[in-house]
Amino acid sequence: MAPRSSPVLSIVIGILCAGLIQLTSASRPSPRDAPPSQRTLISSNTDSLANSLLASLNASGLAVAVVRQDSSVPGGWRREFGSYGIAKDDGAPVTPDTLFAIASNSKLFLAYSVGLLVSNKTLAQMRGKDLTWTTKAKDIFPEWGLMDDTASQETDIRDMLSHRIGLPSHLYALGRGSAGRAEVIANLKFLRPSAEFRQIFQYHNPGYETLARTPEVLLNQSYESYIAQHLFKPLNMSSSTFSVKEAEASGKLADGFHLDMRDQVKGVNGTRTAIIPFFARNGTERSWAGAGGVISSARDLSIWVSMLLNKGRHPETNQTVVPEEVVERCASGMTIFSAKPMYPEMVCRTVRFQVPLESLIEPKSPLVYGHAQTRYSYRGHEVIEHGGGLPGFISQVTRFPNDNLAIVTLTNDYNAVTLTDAVKWRIVDENLGLPEIDWSKRYTSTFIKIRASDASLL
Ligand SMILES: *[C@@H]1O[C@H](CO)[C@@H](O)[C@H](O)[C@H]1NC(C)=O
Ligand SMILES: *[C@@H]1O[C@H](CO)[C@@H](O)[C@H](O)[C@H]1NC(C)=O
Ligand SMILES: *[C@@H]1O[C@H](CO)[C@@H](O)[C@H](O)[C@H]1NC(C)=O
Ligand SMILES: *[C@@H]1O[C@H](CO)[C@@H](O)[C@H](O)[C@H]1NC(C)=O
Ligand SMILES: *[C@@H]1O[C@H](CO)[C@@H](O)[C@H](O)[C@H]1NC(C)=O
Ligand SMILES: *[C@@H]1O[C@H](CO)[C@@H](O)[C@H](O)[C@H]1NC(C)=O
Ligand SMILES: *[C@@H]1O[C@H](CO)[C@@H](O)[C@H](O)[C@H]1NC(C)=O
Repeated sequence: MAPRSSPVLSIVIGILCAGLIQLTSASRPSPRDAPPSQRTLISSNTDSLANSLLASLNASGLAVAVVRQDSSVPGGWRREFGSYGIAKDDGAPVTPDTLFAIASNSKLFLAYSVGLLVSNKTLAQMRGKDLTWTTKAKDIFPEWGLMDDTASQETDIRDMLSHRIGLPSHLYALGRGSAGRAEVIANLKFLRPSAEFRQIFQYHNPGYETLARTPEVLLNQSYESYIAQHLFKPLNMSSSTFSVKEAEASGKLADGFHLDMRDQVKGVNGTRTAIIPFFARNGTERSWAGAGGVISSARDLSIWVSMLLNKGRHPETNQTVVPEEVVERCASGMTIFSAKPMYPEMVCRTVRFQVPLESLIEPKSPLVYGHAQTRYSYRGHEVIEHGGGLPGFISQVTRFPNDNLAIVTLTNDYNAVTLTDAVKWRIVDENLGLPEIDWSKRYTSTFIKIRASDASLL
């Protein structure tokens, strides 16, 4: 059975304590940042919700970007930012430029790097053979091998990207190996499978990290520099990086907060502690980059999601950054993430992957997983989305392809698990003109149920 994740164990259903944390609205306006009074995508109602949730959860900070493609405005795009609470222990406020670890929202960068290599005709010519989505791992990585012989022989790129190779989380296999990705891959053969090959979806970070070795093997180029060259740079995501050191040097990296030694079952509140992204410094970031290493801002990610809405083309120049076929493929279901819906409108995305979901709460709506993207429907509107979480940071990157709407929510508080989703749904309901649902209330009651079942499992 998969291990139960700490985010669920560390849910905060805090008491109202307005004034304990400093709440500020967007600062450092640039020509693109509409002041609150001129905003059309982020309402004052949303501002109030974000501020009151920060207070009631006693959480640190939240950055929001909302994007809408709209041919009636100059440039064709509306982009707005919401900034709430504190970025750092010293009280520095969140801004649209605050840098957050986006954790598993990094996986789409990895999936697109594979798509770019698959689409690379020069590379195919140079190698004398195509790289395809069905190329087998054993034919790319010299270190490859798995304990299960069928999986070892048959695993292909799609299997790794859709979490169906038979291995469970094995998160610590990403460790701090001195030999980086080659070592992560070489160690896979010692990890016990928990399902048969291609039988079920099991969230598996090392599969993504393995694929981050592809540009090293095929182009003798580091994954990090490949992403910088082919994604960050063409999109002018100028603050985005894989380097904690670089992010710190910019002065814009948020402190990630978590509650140290928290134990909700025993009623221990824990001590609020500011931490750096948990992949280590000084080069060892390399063993996390593909699965969860991107550090970025609401501003940079607003360009990223614009490109996603624009089917892989640059939002201003309309030049192809990621081929449309790659964007479509990654957003198309390959495995079943959740076979039944949890709420009538959709699946609850806040309950984390490692939790045996169905044993805790009754789900009520289906959700498929493609490559670093889930796909489902919310009140009749199609959603493509991924979440991310690592100690100190939680993120959601969501788009509604048929409504030209995308939302990014980033928090530097690991315990505020409901914050990114509750604020996101408020923005969605308002922008799609749907009657408002109080998602934070629903999440709270869901978590009370989870908490009760945690206690019974002890
Ligand atoms: C723990 O936090 C709760 C509020 O979330 C508070 O009511 C309680 O007094 C705290 N307990 C301790 C031991 O500080
Ligand atoms: C809220 O967080 C602050 C630190 O930021 C801490 O001092 C305070 O005790 C917390 N309050 C509660 C009720 O947990
Ligand atoms: C395509 O492959 C060539 C080498 O054959 C390399 O120089 C180039 O950077 C690659 N481009 C992408 C987008 O992978
Ligand atoms: C490029 O190739 C050289 C020589 O084989 C090797 O030492 C180096 O590590 C490679 N660099 C990358 C990024 O793979
Ligand atoms: C790139 O981004 C930076 C920082 O957001 C901005 O100052 C600059 O104008 C942008 N350049 C282009 C060409 O959009
Ligand atoms: C990383 O290097 C810096 C100096 O460049 C040093 O102060 C720090 O302790 C090192 N951190 C780790 C985790 O090794
Ligand atoms: C962008 O390029 C696509 C594909 O060539 C084209 O269909 C679309 O009309 C272009 N959009 C704009 C705004 O030029």
